[in-house]
Order: sequence, then structure tokens, then C-alpha cells
Amino acid sequence: MLNFDFYNPTRVVFGEGTIARLDELVPADARVLVLYGGGSAERNGTLAEVQAALGSRRVQRFGGIEPNPSYETLMKAVELIHREGIDFLLAVGGGSVIDGTKFVAAAVKHAGDPWEILQTRGKSVSSALPFGCVLTLPATGSEMNCASVVTRKSVNAKLGFFSRQVFPRFSVLDPVKTYTLPPRQIANGVVDAFVHVAEQYLTYPVSAAVQDRYAESLLQTLIEVGPKALATPQDYDVRANLMWAATQALSGPVGAGVPQDWATHMIGHELTALHGLDHAQTLAIVLPTLLNERRTPKRAKLLQYAERVWNIRDGDEDARIDAAIARTREFFESLGVKTRLADYGIGANAIDALVAQLEAHGMTALGEHRDLDLTTSRRILEACL
Ligand code: NZQ
Ligand code: ZN
Repeated sequence: MLNFDFYNPTRVVFGEGTIARLDELVPADARVLVLYGGGSAERNGTLAEVQAALGSRRVQRFGGIEPNPSYETLMKAVELIHREGIDFLLAVGGGSVIDGTKFVAAAVKHAGDPWEILQTRGKSVSSALPFGCVLTLPATGSEMNCASVVTRKSVNAKLGFFSRQVFPRFSVLDPVKTYTLPPRQIANGVVDAFVHVAEQYLTYPVSAAVQDRYAESLLQTLIEVGPKALATPQDYDVRANLMWAATQALSGPVGAGVPQDWATHMIGHELTALHGLDHAQTLAIVLPTLLNERRTPKRAKLLQYAERVWNIRDGDEDARIDAAIARTREFFESLGVKTRLADYGIGANAIDALVAQLEAHGMTALGEHRDLDLTTSRRILEACL
């Protein structure tokens, strides 16, 4: 096992009816800004429930944070906070609202140009406003991690940053709040969480038995509950297990002390930046192809994955790896998430620009061995067509 430094201070309050607990979670004298997305939280009553729980606190709202939150929109929230003397943020939504809130929290306290936060991948963050979350979409794990991904539309850049300053103080996870999600977002959430585990598990063995078995249990849970979450949208236990699996997929324990890949995510971000695909759609396209391309360095873990996650025991080693990759692609497709660039109308003529974006963003040595270069990324993208 590799050395690690595990730290996660986020308090998770989980279960039906827990939005009412905001009254004890948010400081009584806080001047609160509630940040939300394009209106789902307003339409389905979640915002009203939040407002009621906050009681007599001074509360203002900032709506309109887009999926793949934009720098341009978030900077408007930063201005509002300075103008109104707000001292506590509450994100109500999915990964985009939570990521956006993390950026806003850091940007409010940043002395120079806030874009530096993303250019330095968070190294320039020294403090942030405190914030909490009410999660409405199980997918990213943002509710219990210190990562954020922001898009600057003017330069077609989708960049991530990390900082211990932007762990949520708390996150309220009420599975009932996910009942209104459209099937596309449920499927996206299952794929995103699955790929988060894959990025931390499908690398090379380092004798990390706990992390491996935890990763396998999360993958198996997602395979089990993903289709049920689509088939029976109001099944509380299914939604609860999906929600906790997605949170755990990217909150630290799976990735502590093991090598991590993340090339699928980095290539995927460029697909979102240039072609507007949903985050999970990009992952469903890239992961199966990347696993095939990287079958030699990932060989031992792919065999373990085939056996322990998909119960594939027959055939020679390459046949078992082929079968595991095929099962992965079929799983994404079975949820309704297409896995080929062509399915999204993207052809071979798009690849030069995608590779140029990877280069511009310094994504020239990706993967757990830092040897996935631009030539390999190009090969992977060509195989995704
Ligand atoms: O905007 P509204 O109207 O609220 O609608 C949203 C949005 O259109 C809707 N939605 C959310 N909760 C709902 C609901 N609709 C009905 N009922 C509800 N309960 O769902 C749509 C998508 O929301 P979004 O927040 O964009 O989805 P997701 O949670 O998948 O977040 C994706 C973003 O997170 C980033 C992605 O890159 C992407 O920008 N990621 C963040 C990570 C992190 N912080 O650790 C890791 C991930 O790898 C990922 O990169
Ligand atoms: Zn992701």
C-alpha cells in the first residue's frame, strides 16, 4: 500500500426528512446565500423546505448555476456576496451547484484574479467562506470532497481545482429529494460514480486489500441498484443505496493509498468543453476504450475486476479482459448512456481540436504511470468513434 494522508471533515446528515436539520447545522446568526441551479429545486419544493428550515435567518438566493457551472455566472455570485456581506453559503443541487459554490467560496476570499484558483488547480487558495450542501443528485461525490470543476466559456476551458479549504462543513443527503430526477440524470449519476471508482481501482496492484474490496463493493452496488433506480424511481432503499454509493465513490477511502488514473475524466472534460456533452456521457465513451488501450499496464487489475466484479472466470486472460470491458460498455448502454462519439454526432474531424485542448491544458502525461501522452489520447479518441 502507498503512504497516504486521509482527511475528510465533512459531516453527513443522511435520510428522509433531514432538511429540517439545517436549523441546527447552519450558524444561528449566519447571513446565508442559497445557491441553486436552473430551477428544479424551486419547482419540486426543495427550496421552500430549505427556506422553512432556515427560519428567521437572513437568507438571499442566487439561482441559475448551469450544469457544468460557468465562471462567468459564478463571478456574479461573488459580487453579490461582497455587496451584501454574506458569510455562509448553502448549495442546493447536484455536482454543478456544489462545485460552483466551492469556487465562489474560494473566490470571495481570493486576493488576486480568481481565475488563478483554476490555473493553479487550487494551490493559490488559502481560505474560503464556510458552506454546506443539500444534495439533490447522487453522482459526483462533490458533497463530501474538496474538488470542484468550473468551465470558463469564453476560452472553452473546463478545469478542476482542489483545496482542503473547500470541504463542505456539512451535507444533507435526503434520498427522497432524488425522486424527481429525470432518467437521464439518474443514469448519468450511476455512470459517474462507477467511473470514479474505476479511476481509483483499475490501475495496478499495491496490496491494498481494503481499498480493492471497498471499490468492488461499490461497483457491485452500482450495478445492482442502477437499473432499479431507473425502473422503480420511488423506491427509497434503492435511492438511499445509490446516494451513499455515489458519495463514497469519491470521498477518499477508495483512493487512499492506491495509484489513481483520472485520464478518462481529463479527456472527458475536453469533450464537454468543446461539444457540450454531459459529464457522464463523456466518461461512458472514454472508459471502455481507454481500458482496452491500457490493457497491458492495467492487466492484473482488469483480471481481478473481471473475476470479482463481473464473475468472469472462463477463457484465457485476454478473453476475460475483453469480456469485462464489454460488460462495462453494456452496463452503461443498458442505463441509456451511449458509449460512442458517433452516437453524439461527433466525427473524426473533431479529434485534432480535442487533442490540441489537452495539450493547451497540460494534459500530456496522464494516467497512473504518467505515460499516457497525446499520441495515446489521440488513439483512444479515434477508437471511441
Ligand atoms: O439546474 P437544475 O434545474 O437544478 O437541474 C439539474 C441539472 O439540469 C438537474 N437536477 C438536479 N437535481 C434534480 C434535478 N432535476 C430534478 N430533480 C432533482 N432532484 O440535473 C441536471 C444536472 O445537474 P448537475 O449538477 O450538472 O449534475 P451532476 O451532479 O452530475 O454534476 C456534474 C458536474 O460535476 C462535475 C462535472 O464535471 C460536472 O460539471 N464533477 C465534479 C466532481 C467533484 N467535485 O468531485 C467530480 C466529477 O468527476 C465531476 O467532474
Ligand atoms: Zn466524474
